[in-house]
Amino acid sequence: MRATSQFLIGALASTAVAVPLDSRQATIECAALPSPFPTYSQLPLQKSLPDPFLPLKYTSNDNAGSSTTFAQDVMTGKGQHRIQTPEEWYKCRQPEILTLLQEYQYGYYPDHSLEKVEATRSGNTVSIAVTAGGKTGKFKATISLPSGASASKPAPVVINIGGMQNAPYLSAGIAIAQFDYTSVAADSNSKSGAFWDVYKGRDIGVLTAWAWGFHRTLDALNMTVPEINSNKVGVTGCSRLGKGALAAGLFDKRITVTMPMSSGVQGLGPYRYHGLSGQDETLENSKSGAGWWSNSKLGTFVNHAENLPFDAHTIAAAIAPRALVVDQGTGDAYTDSKGTAIVMYPAAKLVYDWLGVSDMIGMSVRTGGHCDMSGFTSVLPFVQKILLGTATTKNYNDLSKYGSPMTTAYPWATAVPKA
Ligand SMILES: *[C@@H]1O[C@H](CO)[C@@H](O)[C@H](O)[C@H]1NC(C)=O
Repeated sequence: MRATSQFLIGALASTAVAVPLDSRQATIECAALPSPFPTYSQLPLQKSLPDPFLPLKYTSNDNAGSSTTFAQDVMTGKGQHRIQTPEEWYKCRQPEILTLLQEYQYGYYPDHSLEKVEATRSGNTVSIAVTAGGKTGKFKATISLPSGASASKPAPVVINIGGMQNAPYLSAGIAIAQFDYTSVAADSNSKSGAFWDVYKGRDIGVLTAWAWGFHRTLDALNMTVPEINSNKVGVTGCSRLGKGALAAGLFDKRITVTMPMSSGVQGLGPYRYHGLSGQDETLENSKSGAGWWSNSKLGTFVNHAENLPFDAHTIAAAIAPRALVVDQGTGDAYTDSKGTAIVMYPAAKLVYDWLGVSDMIGMSVRTGGHCDMSGFTSVLPFVQKILLGTATTKNYNDLSKYGSPMTTAYPWATAVPKA
């Protein structure tokens, strides 16, 4: 939480009354999370993207605002008791989003304070052992260092699963770390790998297990590789691994820049507006094809995706104020590149804008298809800006290959609270 607090103090330094953040937040009362969590049938049917400013408690069929058509009010930013200020967002809504995403999609991320991480390094290989509850899971990561990296001049790092375009990153002075995601959690129902060696039996999705692999890799890099700056960290992966990289960025505030590539549904492809690019990854086919990516609760929303109280933009918004750059290729119809670009992205950006961190979110719409390696060069200038402070003139708000943002998808945009 420290990074967030520091950010807020900086961002609000120009406001007239210099009341410390913590004391301003102290007077804010958060809406309690509903208990038990509502089921799909207790949640309003929302055909457009849910209002990110509305707490879950008020995302209900009886939250009448100015009219009596409840779902309409909820969708259009007329619901009662919306979040009003960035302080309230960071104190109440951001943690609430993290909880509801674990409840409805990811499964509950294990308590890291109960884990012991041990790491040893041999050359460019780091061996990692994580112990909790008397069980140990082991896996390895490999590193590539840019020339000139040393303990006195440590390089930022991008941790990836599934491979990436290493050379331009190394040339830019950015180290690469990689781990074999299948050794952390198999991409199947088999529940094999280091994560399950420790946590077998829990209702957690494999995307979360992979996210945990990123985080334990970072722990190990911090312990054994002084040539790497563990405070300047990117995470990436493509397709299902992009969904995992997104989860990695979401669940750990040490991640400086999150770089999901061609990530699709359960990544940054929206559950609603899923067919805009002509092909169709959906909640239904992702759950039936690879149900293990998420927890079992998400399965109860099959055929009811429009009752989900969140969508991909909610995930993106919860990463703020930290950096997020989204890559999609115009030749990649299956992961809904168009919907990611003109529906998810502008909706998430509205929240970043409102929080005063417009520059921390970027969209790369490039030519080429699914997991085309050119995506990594396409996002590199953004990543250099974040990790190295290198200015770029590249426009990361250029959606023109798809036309304009589809404003009808987020009707609450006309009622963004006055920050
Ligand atoms: C690295 O390890 C030190 C010492 O345990 C700790 O204080 C610091 O927070 C760690 N940094 C990261 C990025 O994990």
